[in-house]
Amino acid sequence: MASDNYALWEERYSTPGRGPRQPEPFVVESLPYLRRGALLDVACGEGRHALYLASQGGFRVLGVDRSPTAIEVCRKRAAERGLEARFQELDLEREILPAGPFATIVATRYWQPDLCSQLVERLEGGGILLYESYTYDYLRYGPRRRDFLLAPGQLREVFAGLGLEILSYAEVDRPETREYSARLLARKV
Ligand SMILES: C[S@@+](CC[C@H](N)C(=O)[O-])C[C@H]1O[C@@H](n2cnc3c(N)ncnc32)[C@H](O)[C@@H]1O
Repeated sequence: MASDNYALWEERYSTPGRGPRQPEPFVVESLPYLRRGALLDVACGEGRHALYLASQGGFRVLGVDRSPTAIEVCRKRAAERGLEARFQELDLEREILPAGPFATIVATRYWQPDLCSQLVERLEGGGILLYESYTYDYLRYGPRRRDFLLAPGQLREVFAGLGLEILSYAEVDRPETREYSARLLARKV
């Protein structure tokens, strides 16, 4: 089991008055390195990255997430902002990823080790993977399921082992901003 609780996410995404969240600074800073073309946002949630990237031009965005409520929110926000982006309900633990190839794949705050080889397969040659997710440092701030979290160096090792060229990798532990994540940019050669 790699994903979080279905009911918890449905409840969270159904909370009235829940406004849009800002994209992660890492995603914004990485924009110049992302490859234009088809873009997949894996476990996109309410689409903070999918919608941000759709607004930047040059990306044909597809966001997937298991939560029907999140997908509905994504579609509504895209329509409100006049953005062209597609969203699809998909359970990543039970279904396969949409057919690629994708020029860029974005995955944030979601870790499912057995998905990694599929992500690499779905990238086109020269395609970019942006991955950011929580590390074991998160355990210091409360009980969490360890299998949702990344071990030191794990993100880099997994994707280097699958043949990607690592463009950048960092682990961040900043309690003041509640950032405890590993961040990777990699290219399929
Ligand atoms: C922490 S949120 C991250 C959302 C988004 N990537 C972001 O950074 O804002 C985790 C997301 O994973 C989704 N998720 C959990 N299990 C999933 C699964 N098996 N298949 C697809 N999505 C899943 C949840 O619905 C939730 O939207």
